[in-house]
Parts: sequence; C-alpha cells; structure tokens
Amino acid sequence: MITVLVATDKPFASIAVNGIRDVLTRAGFEMKLLENYSTREKLLDAVKDADALIVRSDIVDEQVLAAARNLKIVVRAGAGYDNIDLDAASAKGIVVMNTPGQNSNAVAELSIGLLIYLNRNTFNGTTGIELSRKTIGIHGCGNVGRLIGVKAKGIGMDVYTYDPYVDEAMVETYGIKAVSKVQELYSKCQYLSLNLPANKNTRELINFDLLSLMPEGATLLNTARKEIIHEPSLLKMFSERNDFRYATDVAPDCDALLRSQYPGRYVATPKKMGAQTDEANINAGMAAARQIVNFLLHGNRQFRVN
Ligand code: 3PG
Repeated sequence: MITVLVATDKPFASIAVNGIRDVLTRAGFEMKLLENYSTREKLLDAVKDADALIVRSDIVDEQVLAAARNLKIVVRAGAGYDNIDLDAASAKGIVVMNTPGQNSNAVAELSIGLLIYLNRNTFNGTTGIELSRKTIGIHGCGNVGRLIGVKAKGIGMDVYTYDPYVDEAMVETYGIKAVSKVQELYSKCQYLSLNLPANKNTRELINFDLLSLMPEGATLLNTARKEIIHEPSLLKMFSERNDFRYATDVAPDCDALLRSQYPGRYVATPKKMGAQTDEANINAGMAAARQIVNFLLHGNRQFRVN
C-alpha cells in the first residue's frame, strides 16, 4: 500500500487533517501523521517507508531525503519551498511540488491585520493613525501580494507594485499601479509590503539603500521570509529614522533587540501564523493530497518546482 507521511511540526487544523486523510483513503493510500515532532530523529524515522511526503515549513534537506528510501514525491502544502533541497531531491529523482495560491488569502488578511495593529499602537488605547488615503507598495505581486493590494484598496489605500515577472496590464485590472523601477516603489510609498520568495536572488535584497528611500512615516511589512532582509540595514533604519516602523510575521534574528529597544515601532508574531487558518490549512493540505494522488496514479506533474 502507498504510504503518505504528513509531517508538520506546526500542525494543520484537525479539520484539514481529516480532509487530507479522506482524499488519500479514497485513493486507497494510507496516511501517517507526524506533528509537533520535538526532534529531527522522529522525522528521519517516520519518513523511512513513506512513498510521499506532505510538509509545511519543515526542513527537507539531503539527510531527510537520504533517510526516505521509497520517496517519490514531496509536496510543500503552501507557496514557499525554500525549506526543501531541490537539487538533492532532483538527484534522487524525487518530484517536488508546492500548492500555490491555496493559503494566500490567510496571509493577506494577517498582513492587513498587522498594519492596523501597528498603526493603532498595538491596541494600547492611545491615538493611532488610519491607513485610508495612504500609499502602499507591494514588492512582489504574486498571489499574496496581489491579494494584499486588493484588500488595501478596499480600505482606501493607494496601491503600487514593483514586480518584473508580472504583467503590468494584469495587475492594473486589480487597481494596482505598476512601477518599472524598484527604487520608485520605495520612494513613493509610506507603507511597503514584502512579498518575495526566499532564494539566491532575493537573499538580503532589502537593504538600507532601498529602505532609506521611503518617505516620512516609513512602515515596512514582511509576511514573506526573514532572509530577504539585510538585518544590519534594518537595525540602521531603526537607529537613524525615528519614524521607521516594522511589522512582521517572520521575526528577524535581531527580534529580542528590536523588542527591547523599539517597543511601539516593532511588532512580530510569536510564530509564523500567516497561513494558520482552518481555511488555508484545508485548502493547502487537501490540494497537496490531491496532487500526490494525481501524480502517483496518473503521472500529473502540475505544480512541480524541480
Ligand atoms: C507559505 O510559504 O506557504 C507560507 O509562508 C506559509 O507557511 P507555513 O505553512 O509554514 O505556515
């Protein structure tokens, strides 16, 4: 029997786990579940006999792939696959997929929530500021970026984007104005949302040269990945610009320092929770299960990333 391991250190909602099990059982597969695993050894052990693997941000590196003797496919139930060693998977002939778009709404909703939370002084009862009629730049206009743009428009913000990979006319149908230079985005926008994947081209891309272009009241929002920000530049922005604020769902390594030195100008969720909704878990988890069934039974390779 085909065995599918769902290995999620940050567990899916139970309603999503039931949905995943349903999809797999109907295909005649067996589902094994490993949640909240406290040690890597547990993952290495659980993956041994798995034919397929569903993960979230769990690290799937060479060691995990080597331990998985029968593995044919890994599906990252989510968008970013920077946690998976694609080269090592390809070398072993293992297919890697993601489930693009399935958790985007949850991340976009949290993004707007974080902006409001910071602008209303972490709900401490003091006078805050409104987002309406302010300008927001979306750096990276994929599924999440576009949805943040649409929601920001809904609350009256003026929305711009820079993304060399998306069609200008397409984003403009959402009321989002495209700019052709990244510097223009940062110079124009008081609010800036980072929606880039983490890869070798984006690592530490967001630096002081870019951030310092932001106008008075500069507020950075990051619900993507911590690795895309050059942390010394972030610290420099905090120390040189009293107006600079940062809201994030992916706390930087300097989290403790920012919390202690800049309370009120810095908010971070305790654990990445953008995609942590029933709906996102159901959508991404069940899409992952369906993709595994379609691949193993019908050879369908849609959403393959390696
Ligand atoms: C993603 O890349 O899909 C999001 O960052 C969500 O990640 P998570 O599944 O680890 O919450």
